[in-house]
Amino acid sequence: MNLKVSALLALALSFPARGEEIPVSTVVRFNTVCTNCHEGECSGRLSFQSGALAAKNHIRRYLAAPSEREIEDLFALLKYTKEKCAYYPLKPPESGRWGASDLVQWRNPVEGGYFIPLGELKPGEHRLRLVFASAPQGRVRVSDTRFDIVLEEQLCRGATLAMDFTVPGGEYFLHLQTQAGLLDLELDQAR
Ligand code: HEC
Repeated sequence: MNLKVSALLALALSFPARGEEIPVSTVVRFNTVCTNCHEGECSGRLSFQSGALAAKNHIRRYLAAPSEREIEDLFALLKYTKEKCAYYPLKPPESGRWGASDLVQWRNPVEGGYFIPLGELKPGEHRLRLVFASAPQGRVRVSDTRFDIVLEEQLCRGATLAMDFTVPGGEYFLHLQTQAGLLDLELDQAR
């Protein structure tokens, strides 16, 4: 490889496209743990008044054994949230159906919970079907990319549930705050 090509390659690798930089597992961890308090913080920028070390200790309080890279990425995610006032972009599946093996990557295996990008939804009513491995305790929430909530319910009705919700259209995200494992997710336009 000549010098010019390798220099270009190094440049390309040091500036990956937005949306590919932060691993999905970290985005999921952020959205299952940190957003319990930092959801929809659109204050423009980080203040870092407490200093980087204090913020690191703060992060360690809520996460079991985060790596240095993860801490950096979590910082970047809060910065992204505050500056863009939006969820960090994630690639949703093409179909409206997720099986157990597709769902694994959207689970936080340490602190529990799921964060799943549902993709673009047409305006109107939609039906969300969830099948859990056991009757879940917790909460389900669907919000749009600006954090506006279109569905919020307590999970306490058995292992299989269906919920209808209406959206003006756009991109939506599902939060599941539960320790229960999810086996199947289906999303259909109801009408
Ligand atoms: C129980 C609530 C709670 C949880 C959970 C939580 N935080 Fe915080 N965090 C706060 C509060 C309160 C502050 C101080 C006020 C502020 O700056 O928002 C703060 C401040 C911060 C700051 C400094 C912000 C700044 O502008 O200087 C960072 C960075 C941060 N948190 C990251 C995280 C990350 C990453 C997670 C997830 C691992 C997390 N926090 C989880 C409540 C929480």
